[in-house]
Amino acid sequence: MRPILADRTLPRLHGVQHVLVTGGAGFIGANFVHHLLSHTDAVVTVLDKLTYAANEAALAELPADRCLLVVGDVADASIVDPLVAEHDTVVHFAAESHNDNSLDDPAPFVQTNLVGTFTILEAVRRTGARMHHVSTDEVYGDLELDDPKRFTEDTPYQPSSPYSASKAGSDHLVRAWVRSFGVAATISNCSNNYGPWQHIEKFIPRQITNVLDGGRPKLYGTGANVRDWIHVDDHSSAVQTILERGRIGETYLIGADGEKSNLEVVRLILRLMGRSEDDFDHVTDRAGHDLRYAIESGKLRLELGWEPTYQDFEAGLAQTIEWYREHEDWWRPHKEATEAGYAAKGQ
Ligand code: NAD
Ligand code: TYD
Repeated sequence: MRPILADRTLPRLHGVQHVLVTGGAGFIGANFVHHLLSHTDAVVTVLDKLTYAANEAALAELPADRCLLVVGDVADASIVDPLVAEHDTVVHFAAESHNDNSLDDPAPFVQTNLVGTFTILEAVRRTGARMHHVSTDEVYGDLELDDPKRFTEDTPYQPSSPYSASKAGSDHLVRAWVRSFGVAATISNCSNNYGPWQHIEKFIPRQITNVLDGGRPKLYGTGANVRDWIHVDDHSSAVQTILERGRIGETYLIGADGEKSNLEVVRLILRLMGRSEDDFDHVTDRAGHDLRYAIESGKLRLELGWEPTYQDFEAGLAQTIEWYREHEDWWRPHKEATEAGYAAKGQ
Protein backbone atom coordinates (compact mmCIF):
# COMPACT_ATOMS: atom_id res chain seq x y z
CA MET A 1 0.00 0.00 0.00
CA ARG A 2 1.54 3.31 -1.00
CA PRO A 3 0.38 6.82 -1.93
CA ILE A 4 -0.01 7.23 -5.67
CA LEU A 5 -0.55 10.17 -7.96
CA ALA A 6 -4.11 11.36 -8.32
CA ASP A 7 -4.20 10.54 -12.05
CA ARG A 8 -3.74 6.79 -11.41
CA THR A 9 -6.60 4.35 -10.75
CA LEU A 10 -6.96 0.61 -10.27
CA PRO A 11 -7.55 -1.28 -13.53
CA ARG A 12 -11.25 -1.85 -14.34
CA LEU A 13 -12.30 -5.45 -13.72
CA HIS A 14 -15.44 -6.75 -15.38
CA GLY A 15 -18.27 -7.59 -12.96
CA VAL A 16 -16.46 -6.19 -9.92
CA GLN A 17 -17.63 -3.16 -7.94
CA HIS A 18 -15.20 -0.26 -7.91
CA VAL A 19 -15.71 1.67 -4.71
CA LEU A 20 -14.25 5.08 -3.90
CA VAL A 21 -13.96 5.56 -0.12
CA THR A 22 -13.32 9.16 0.90
CA GLY A 23 -11.63 9.54 4.29
CA GLY A 24 -10.64 5.88 4.04
CA ALA A 25 -7.46 6.48 6.03
CA GLY A 26 -9.44 7.78 9.02
CA PHE A 27 -10.73 5.77 11.97
CA ILE A 28 -14.07 4.55 10.59
CA GLY A 29 -13.11 4.76 6.92
CA ALA A 30 -10.07 2.49 7.39
CA ASN A 31 -12.09 -0.05 9.38
CA PHE A 32 -14.74 0.07 6.63
CA VAL A 33 -12.14 -0.58 3.89
CA HIS A 34 -10.93 -3.67 5.80
CA HIS A 35 -14.54 -4.82 6.20
CA LEU A 36 -15.37 -4.31 2.52
CA LEU A 37 -12.26 -6.14 1.27
CA SER A 38 -12.88 -9.12 3.54
CA HIS A 39 -16.67 -9.37 2.92
CA THR A 40 -16.91 -8.55 -0.83
CA ASP A 41 -14.95 -8.80 -4.09
CA ALA A 42 -14.87 -5.01 -4.47
CA VAL A 43 -11.75 -3.08 -5.35
CA VAL A 44 -11.30 0.13 -3.41
CA THR A 45 -9.69 3.47 -3.99
CA VAL A 46 -9.21 5.57 -0.87
CA LEU A 47 -9.24 9.34 -1.37
CA ASP A 48 -7.79 10.98 1.71
CA LYS A 49 -5.99 14.26 2.41
CA LEU A 50 -4.01 12.57 5.19
CA THR A 51 -4.74 15.21 7.82
CA TYR A 52 -3.48 14.81 11.39
CA ALA A 53 -6.37 12.32 11.92
CA ALA A 54 -5.35 9.87 9.18
CA ASN A 55 -3.80 6.44 9.74
CA GLU A 56 -1.82 5.33 6.70
CA ALA A 57 -0.62 2.44 8.86
CA ALA A 58 -4.19 1.12 9.03
CA LEU A 59 -4.09 0.50 5.27
CA ALA A 60 -0.52 -0.82 5.12
CA GLU A 61 -1.26 -4.54 4.94
CA LEU A 62 -4.11 -4.41 2.43
CA PRO A 63 -3.52 -6.10 -0.95
CA ALA A 64 -2.12 -3.58 -3.45
CA ASP A 65 -4.16 -5.07 -6.32
CA ARG A 66 -7.44 -4.35 -4.48
CA CYS A 67 -6.78 -1.09 -2.65
CA LEU A 68 -5.02 2.11 -3.64
CA LEU A 69 -4.58 5.32 -1.71
CA VAL A 70 -4.91 8.62 -3.54
CA VAL A 71 -3.75 11.56 -1.47
CA GLY A 72 -6.00 14.53 -2.14
CA ASP A 73 -8.72 16.87 -0.93
CA VAL A 74 -12.42 16.01 -1.32
CA ALA A 75 -13.07 19.69 -1.93
CA ASP A 76 -10.76 19.72 -4.99
CA ALA A 77 -12.88 19.01 -8.08
CA SER A 78 -9.79 18.50 -10.26
CA ILE A 79 -9.00 15.37 -8.21
CA VAL A 80 -12.54 14.29 -7.32
CA ASP A 81 -14.13 14.44 -10.80
CA PRO A 82 -11.81 12.03 -12.67
CA LEU A 83 -11.73 9.66 -9.68
CA VAL A 84 -15.50 9.51 -9.28
CA ALA A 85 -15.77 8.88 -13.05
CA GLU A 86 -13.76 5.65 -12.55
CA HIS A 87 -15.97 4.24 -9.77
CA ASP A 88 -19.44 2.68 -9.50
CA THR A 89 -19.95 3.68 -5.87
CA VAL A 90 -18.73 6.46 -3.58
CA VAL A 91 -18.82 6.03 0.19
CA HIS A 92 -18.20 9.44 1.71
CA PHE A 93 -16.55 9.38 5.16
CA ALA A 94 -14.06 12.25 4.76
CA ALA A 95 -14.70 14.96 7.33
CA GLU A 96 -13.23 16.99 10.11
CA SER A 97 -14.69 14.98 12.97
CA HIS A 98 -13.78 16.33 16.42
CA ASN A 99 -16.19 18.65 18.24
CA ASP A 100 -13.50 20.19 20.44
CA ASN A 101 -11.43 21.16 17.37
CA SER A 102 -14.51 22.72 15.78
CA LEU A 103 -14.84 25.01 18.80
CA ASP A 104 -11.18 26.08 18.48
CA ASP A 105 -11.30 26.62 14.67
CA PRO A 106 -14.50 25.99 12.70
CA ALA A 107 -13.05 26.93 9.26
CA PRO A 108 -11.82 23.47 8.15
CA PHE A 109 -15.16 21.97 9.24
CA VAL A 110 -17.08 24.25 6.90
CA GLN A 111 -14.56 23.70 4.09
CA THR A 112 -14.27 19.90 4.24
CA ASN A 113 -17.69 18.90 5.53
CA LEU A 114 -19.74 21.29 3.41
CA VAL A 115 -17.63 22.19 0.36
CA GLY A 116 -16.17 18.66 0.28
CA THR A 117 -19.63 17.06 0.25
CA PHE A 118 -20.79 19.55 -2.40
CA THR A 119 -17.80 18.60 -4.57
CA ILE A 120 -18.57 14.86 -4.27
CA LEU A 121 -22.26 15.49 -5.05
CA GLU A 122 -21.46 17.46 -8.18
CA ALA A 123 -19.21 14.65 -9.38
CA VAL A 124 -21.77 11.87 -8.77
CA ARG A 125 -24.42 14.06 -10.42
CA ARG A 126 -22.36 14.01 -13.60
CA THR A 127 -21.47 10.29 -13.59
CA GLY A 128 -24.55 8.71 -11.99
CA ALA A 129 -22.44 6.81 -9.44
CA ARG A 130 -24.20 5.41 -6.36
CA MET A 131 -23.32 7.46 -3.28
CA HIS A 132 -23.57 6.77 0.43
CA HIS A 133 -23.10 9.72 2.78
CA VAL A 134 -21.83 8.90 6.26
CA SER A 135 -23.16 11.23 8.93
CA THR A 136 -23.71 11.49 12.66
CA ASP A 137 -26.60 11.45 15.14
CA GLU A 138 -25.26 14.79 16.43
CA VAL A 139 -27.24 16.56 13.69
CA TYR A 140 -30.30 16.08 15.93
CA GLY A 141 -28.87 18.05 18.86
CA ASP A 142 -29.28 16.45 22.27
CA LEU A 143 -31.88 14.82 24.54
CA GLU A 144 -32.57 15.33 28.24
CA LEU A 145 -31.08 12.66 30.51
CA ASP A 146 -34.51 11.53 31.72
CA ASP A 147 -36.23 11.74 28.31
CA PRO A 148 -37.58 8.31 27.30
CA LYS A 149 -37.34 9.37 23.62
CA ARG A 150 -34.51 8.40 21.27
CA PHE A 151 -33.56 9.92 17.90
CA THR A 152 -35.42 8.57 14.86
CA GLU A 153 -35.20 9.40 11.15
CA ASP A 154 -38.04 11.93 11.78
CA THR A 155 -36.35 13.88 14.59
CA PRO A 156 -35.91 17.56 13.58
CA TYR A 157 -32.35 18.76 12.98
CA GLN A 158 -30.98 20.94 15.81
CA PRO A 159 -27.17 20.76 15.75
CA SER A 160 -25.23 22.39 18.60
CA SER A 161 -21.58 22.68 17.56
CA PRO A 162 -19.76 23.86 14.43
CA TYR A 163 -18.97 20.16 13.76
CA SER A 164 -22.56 18.94 14.03
CA ALA A 165 -23.88 22.00 12.14
CA SER A 166 -21.48 21.33 9.26
CA LYS A 167 -22.55 17.65 9.16
CA ALA A 168 -26.22 18.71 9.28
CA GLY A 169 -25.59 21.03 6.34
CA SER A 170 -23.90 18.22 4.40
CA ASP A 171 -26.94 15.97 4.97
CA HIS A 172 -29.21 18.72 3.63
CA LEU A 173 -27.03 19.07 0.53
CA VAL A 174 -27.30 15.33 -0.14
CA ARG A 175 -31.12 15.39 0.20
CA ALA A 176 -31.37 18.40 -2.11
CA TRP A 177 -29.16 16.71 -4.76
CA VAL A 178 -31.34 13.58 -4.56
CA ARG A 179 -34.55 15.52 -4.99
CA SER A 180 -33.40 18.16 -7.47
CA PHE A 181 -30.97 16.20 -9.61
CA GLY A 182 -31.90 12.56 -9.05
CA VAL A 183 -28.56 11.67 -7.45
CA ALA A 184 -28.63 8.03 -6.27
CA ALA A 185 -27.68 8.61 -2.65
CA THR A 186 -28.47 7.24 0.80
CA ILE A 187 -27.54 8.75 4.18
CA SER A 188 -26.74 7.16 7.53
CA ASN A 189 -26.52 8.88 10.90
CA CYS A 190 -24.57 6.80 13.38
CA SER A 191 -23.93 7.13 17.11
CA ASN A 192 -20.49 7.29 18.81
CA ASN A 193 -18.01 4.68 17.51
CA TYR A 194 -15.24 2.95 19.42
CA GLY A 195 -12.62 0.40 18.36
CA PRO A 196 -9.15 0.16 16.78
CA TRP A 197 -7.41 3.07 15.02
CA GLN A 198 -9.46 5.83 16.69
CA HIS A 199 -7.41 9.00 17.20
CA ILE A 200 -6.33 9.50 20.82
CA GLU A 201 -7.98 12.95 20.91
CA LYS A 202 -11.34 11.14 21.21
CA PHE A 203 -12.88 10.19 24.57
CA ILE A 204 -12.31 6.43 24.84
CA PRO A 205 -8.79 6.18 23.34
CA ARG A 206 -7.72 9.28 25.27
CA GLN A 207 -8.65 7.67 28.57
CA ILE A 208 -7.18 4.26 27.68
CA THR A 209 -3.86 5.81 26.66
CA ASN A 210 -3.85 8.07 29.74
CA VAL A 211 -4.10 4.97 31.92
CA LEU A 212 -1.49 3.07 29.84
CA ASP A 213 0.74 6.13 30.40
CA GLY A 214 0.28 5.89 34.18
CA GLY A 215 -1.93 9.00 34.15
CA ARG A 216 -5.60 9.64 35.01
CA PRO A 217 -8.69 9.80 32.77
CA LYS A 218 -10.12 13.31 32.24
CA LEU A 219 -13.86 13.70 32.54
CA TYR A 220 -15.51 16.86 31.18
CA GLY A 221 -17.81 18.46 33.77
CA THR A 222 -19.76 16.04 35.95
CA GLY A 223 -19.51 13.11 33.51
CA ALA A 224 -23.30 12.72 33.46
CA ASN A 225 -23.41 13.21 29.67
CA VAL A 226 -24.60 10.10 27.84
CA ARG A 227 -23.30 8.72 24.54
CA ASP A 228 -24.73 5.71 22.64
CA TRP A 229 -21.69 3.53 21.86
CA ILE A 230 -21.35 1.24 18.84
CA HIS A 231 -18.35 -0.84 17.80
CA VAL A 232 -16.83 0.43 14.54
CA ASP A 233 -17.21 -3.04 12.91
CA ASP A 234 -20.96 -2.78 13.42
CA HIS A 235 -20.96 0.66 11.77
CA SER A 236 -19.12 -0.91 8.80
CA SER A 237 -21.58 -3.80 8.45
CA ALA A 238 -24.48 -1.33 8.64
CA VAL A 239 -23.05 0.82 5.84
CA GLN A 240 -22.46 -2.30 3.72
CA THR A 241 -26.08 -3.36 4.36
CA ILE A 242 -27.36 0.06 3.24
CA LEU A 243 -25.20 -0.07 0.10
CA GLU A 244 -26.63 -3.48 -0.77
CA ARG A 245 -30.26 -3.11 0.27
CA GLY A 246 -30.95 0.54 1.17
CA ARG A 247 -33.57 2.50 -0.75
CA ILE A 248 -32.23 5.49 -2.72
CA GLY A 249 -33.08 8.80 -1.07
CA GLU A 250 -33.61 7.20 2.35
CA THR A 251 -31.89 7.94 5.65
CA TYR A 252 -31.03 5.17 8.12
CA LEU A 253 -30.05 5.66 11.76
CA ILE A 254 -27.32 3.30 12.98
CA GLY A 255 -27.06 2.41 16.66
CA ALA A 256 -26.52 -0.60 18.92
CA ASP A 257 -28.42 0.30 22.12
CA GLY A 258 -25.15 1.26 23.83
CA GLU A 259 -26.18 4.20 26.05
CA LYS A 260 -23.64 4.89 28.82
CA SER A 261 -22.75 7.99 30.82
CA ASN A 262 -19.17 9.21 30.41
CA LEU A 263 -18.65 8.54 34.12
CA GLU A 264 -19.71 4.89 33.66
CA VAL A 265 -17.29 4.51 30.74
CA VAL A 266 -14.36 6.00 32.67
CA ARG A 267 -15.05 3.76 35.69
CA LEU A 268 -15.27 0.70 33.42
CA ILE A 269 -11.96 1.53 31.68
CA LEU A 270 -10.26 1.96 35.06
CA ARG A 271 -11.68 -1.35 36.37
CA LEU A 272 -10.76 -3.28 33.21
CA MET A 273 -7.23 -1.85 33.43
CA GLY A 274 -6.78 -2.81 37.08
CA ARG A 275 -6.99 0.66 38.61
CA SER A 276 -9.28 2.16 41.25
CA GLU A 277 -12.58 3.30 39.70
CA ASP A 278 -12.17 6.71 41.40
CA ASP A 279 -8.75 7.37 39.89
CA PHE A 280 -9.87 10.12 37.43
CA ASP A 281 -9.98 13.95 37.23
CA HIS A 282 -12.93 16.22 36.52
CA VAL A 283 -11.75 18.88 34.03
CA THR A 284 -13.24 21.98 32.36
CA ASP A 285 -16.48 21.14 30.55
CA ARG A 286 -16.88 21.49 26.77
CA ALA A 287 -18.72 24.68 25.66
CA GLY A 288 -22.28 23.82 24.61
CA HIS A 289 -21.70 20.16 25.61
CA ASP A 290 -24.55 17.99 24.29
CA LEU A 291 -26.20 16.14 27.16
CA ARG A 292 -27.39 12.87 25.68
CA TYR A 293 -27.51 11.04 22.35
CA ALA A 294 -29.65 7.91 21.84
CA ILE A 295 -30.51 6.09 18.62
CA GLU A 296 -33.65 4.18 17.68
CA SER A 297 -32.36 1.97 14.83
CA GLY A 298 -35.59 0.03 14.13
CA LYS A 299 -35.81 1.13 10.48
CA LEU A 300 -32.39 -0.30 9.62
CA ARG A 301 -33.08 -3.51 11.56
CA LEU A 302 -36.64 -4.16 10.38
CA GLU A 303 -36.41 -2.97 6.76
CA LEU A 304 -32.88 -4.11 5.93
CA GLY A 305 -32.37 -6.93 8.45
CA TRP A 306 -29.20 -5.48 10.04
CA GLU A 307 -28.13 -6.49 13.56
CA PRO A 308 -25.02 -5.43 15.51
CA THR A 309 -22.49 -8.14 16.35
CA TYR A 310 -21.06 -6.44 19.44
CA GLN A 311 -23.93 -6.65 21.95
CA ASP A 312 -21.62 -6.56 25.00
CA PHE A 313 -20.00 -3.13 25.46
CA GLU A 314 -17.69 -4.34 28.25
CA ALA A 315 -16.26 -7.11 26.03
CA GLY A 316 -15.80 -4.71 23.08
CA LEU A 317 -14.11 -2.18 25.35
CA ALA A 318 -11.78 -4.82 26.83
CA GLN A 319 -10.78 -5.83 23.27
CA THR A 320 -10.18 -2.16 22.39
CA ILE A 321 -8.00 -1.65 25.48
CA GLU A 322 -5.89 -4.64 24.40
CA TRP A 323 -5.57 -3.17 20.91
CA TYR A 324 -4.21 0.12 22.29
CA ARG A 325 -1.87 -1.80 24.61
CA GLU A 326 -0.49 -3.67 21.59
CA HIS A 327 -0.25 -0.64 19.29
CA GLU A 328 1.64 1.80 21.47
CA ASP A 329 4.12 2.45 18.63
CA TRP A 330 1.19 3.89 16.63
CA TRP A 331 -0.29 6.25 19.23
CA ARG A 332 2.79 7.14 21.29
CA PRO A 333 4.22 9.77 18.87
CA HIS A 334 0.96 11.80 19.13
CA LYS A 335 0.31 11.53 22.86
CA GLU A 336 2.39 14.38 24.23
CA ALA A 337 1.15 17.02 21.76
CA THR A 338 -2.48 15.88 22.11
CA GLU A 339 -2.35 16.15 25.90
CA ALA A 340 -0.52 19.50 25.74
CA GLY A 341 -3.36 20.87 23.59
CA TYR A 342 -5.95 19.70 26.12
CA ALA A 343 -3.93 20.92 29.11
CA ALA A 344 -3.74 24.42 27.60
CA LYS A 345 -7.58 24.51 27.73
CA GLY A 346 -7.80 23.12 31.28
CA GLN A 347 -8.92 19.75 29.92
P1 NAD B 1 -11.48 10.76 11.45
O1 NAD B 1 -11.22 12.17 11.86
O2 NAD B 1 -10.83 9.66 12.22
O3 NAD B 1 -11.05 10.55 9.92
C1 NAD B 1 -11.37 11.49 8.94
C2 NAD B 1 -10.53 11.16 7.70
O4 NAD B 1 -10.90 12.11 6.68
C3 NAD B 1 -9.03 11.31 7.94
O5 NAD B 1 -8.33 10.23 7.36
C4 NAD B 1 -8.68 12.62 7.22
O6 NAD B 1 -7.36 12.65 6.72
C5 NAD B 1 -9.72 12.64 6.11
N1 NAD B 1 -9.99 14.00 5.65
C6 NAD B 1 -10.23 15.11 6.40
N2 NAD B 1 -10.40 16.18 5.60
C7 NAD B 1 -10.26 15.74 4.32
C8 NAD B 1 -10.34 16.36 3.06
N3 NAD B 1 -10.58 17.68 2.95
N4 NAD B 1 -10.16 15.61 1.95
C9 NAD B 1 -9.91 14.28 2.04
N5 NAD B 1 -9.81 13.64 3.23
C10 NAD B 1 -9.99 14.36 4.35
O7 NAD B 1 -13.06 10.61 11.43
P2 NAD B 1 -13.96 9.33 11.77
O8 NAD B 1 -14.23 9.30 13.23
O9 NAD B 1 -13.39 8.16 11.09
O10 NAD B 1 -15.31 9.76 11.07
C11 NAD B 1 -15.57 9.41 9.70
C12 NAD B 1 -16.95 9.89 9.31
O11 NAD B 1 -17.91 9.28 10.15
C13 NAD B 1 -17.16 11.40 9.43
O12 NAD B 1 -17.93 11.83 8.34
C14 NAD B 1 -17.91 11.55 10.73
O13 NAD B 1 -18.71 12.71 10.72
C15 NAD B 1 -18.74 10.28 10.74
N6 NAD B 1 -19.14 9.78 12.06
C16 NAD B 1 -18.21 9.59 13.04
C17 NAD B 1 -18.60 9.06 14.27
C18 NAD B 1 -17.59 8.78 15.36
O14 NAD B 1 -17.97 8.33 16.45
N7 NAD B 1 -16.29 8.97 15.15
C19 NAD B 1 -19.94 8.74 14.49
C20 NAD B 1 -20.87 8.96 13.47
C21 NAD B 1 -20.46 9.47 12.25
P1 TYD C 1 -15.90 12.60 21.87
O1 TYD C 1 -15.13 11.33 21.78
O2 TYD C 1 -15.18 13.86 21.58
O3 TYD C 1 -17.16 12.41 20.93
P2 TYD C 1 -18.49 13.38 20.71
O4 TYD C 1 -18.13 14.76 21.09
O5 TYD C 1 -18.68 13.24 19.24
O6 TYD C 1 -19.58 12.77 21.51
O7 TYD C 1 -16.51 12.73 23.33
C1 TYD C 1 -17.42 11.78 23.84
C2 TYD C 1 -17.91 12.28 25.17
O8 TYD C 1 -16.84 12.30 26.12
C3 TYD C 1 -18.44 13.70 25.14
O9 TYD C 1 -19.54 13.80 26.05
C4 TYD C 1 -17.28 14.55 25.65
C5 TYD C 1 -16.63 13.63 26.64
N1 TYD C 1 -15.15 13.75 26.84
C6 TYD C 1 -14.63 13.74 28.14
O10 TYD C 1 -15.37 13.67 29.16
N2 TYD C 1 -13.29 13.78 28.30
C7 TYD C 1 -12.44 13.85 27.22
O11 TYD C 1 -11.19 13.87 27.42
C8 TYD C 1 -12.99 13.86 25.89
C9 TYD C 1 -12.09 13.95 24.69
C10 TYD C 1 -14.36 13.80 25.75
